[in-house]
Amino acid sequence: MSMPVAPTPLTDAELRLLQALVYQECGMHFDERRTDFLQDRLQRRLRECQLDSFYSYYRLLISDQGKQELSRLVENLTVNETSFFRNKAQLDLFHRLILDDVLRHKQERHDYSLRIWSAGCSTGQEPYTLAMLVCDALAYYYLRHSIPSPTVSPRPMIPPPWKVEILASDINYSVLRAAQEARYGETQMQSVDYSYRLRYFDKVGDRYAVKPGIKDLVHFDFHNLKTEYLPQRNDIIFCRNVMMYFDQAEQQRLVEKFYRCLNADGYLFVGHAETLRGLSEKFSLIHHNSGTAYQRDEVIA
Ligand SMILES: C[S@@+](CC[C@H](N)C(=O)[O-])C[C@H]1O[C@@H](n2cnc3c(N)ncnc32)[C@H](O)[C@@H]1O
Repeated sequence: MSMPVAPTPLTDAELRLLQALVYQECGMHFDERRTDFLQDRLQRRLRECQLDSFYSYYRLLISDQGKQELSRLVENLTVNETSFFRNKAQLDLFHRLILDDVLRHKQERHDYSLRIWSAGCSTGQEPYTLAMLVCDALAYYYLRHSIPSPTVSPRPMIPPPWKVEILASDINYSVLRAAQEARYGETQMQSVDYSYRLRYFDKVGDRYAVKPGIKDLVHFDFHNLKTEYLPQRNDIIFCRNVMMYFDQAEQQRLVEKFYRCLNADGYLFVGHAETLRGLSEKFSLIHHNSGTAYQRDEVIA
């Protein structure tokens, strides 16, 4: 019988050094409630690297050879919980009111491009949900405005001349790989009703594969929200259940970056437990039933 391995002692000073390094790298803040989680993940990485002290692990992380280990550590620290159609009330607001408004304003200006960014997309359920909702919203929009829809068969998911781009990004390469694969099991599909399953998924063995027409709308990329170089010119940004792992200063910086990454009058969606209150005065709150979103305020010169 193998004996359990005793944890390597972690001093307060080492913990603080590692906490500060993680914060500097990706903005994640580990307060007292999450220190046990951090310690557990650090112990795992230390064993994996076969090092005997946290100070040597810290030295590795800050060295040139330690870059790969640093991203592995960050991957071990991210919480990747997600689901299709997460926060239905908010998606209802997005689908029925906001998308409709954005499409109408764009059409008036003969601008047929729509760009949405899912920042912190995890395994892809959020951006694929958005892609399905955009397809439905465009089909419904054309139905109501009796604009001749294309006669080509099969009808494209996005009616020309519209161009829809959904950028989905994360800091964790393994979730990005799973998202790109776009195959989900029955448990992950629980929140997807049958009309969506039938229209937007193919059954492959015991898994559901996102149909190519939806998959092609979503482009996945690595982006660390801590950095300054983030995707620009978005009409709508979804960043849900990501900011909650940052401290207030980092949240403030991120919201300011989102302001700059949005087009005029653009919209920002944050998680159910997140708010811009106390972080920024450059957005107006919109709510409908229990769904909320924020719209970028424009400065009138
Ligand atoms: C809880 S998941 C949220 C997924 C999805 N937005 C949702 O609400 O269902 C949080 C995601 O944010 C990502 N994340 C955390 N810190 C990040 C950072 N600094 N830059 C980019 N993504 C980050 C994590 O890797 C994780 O996949």
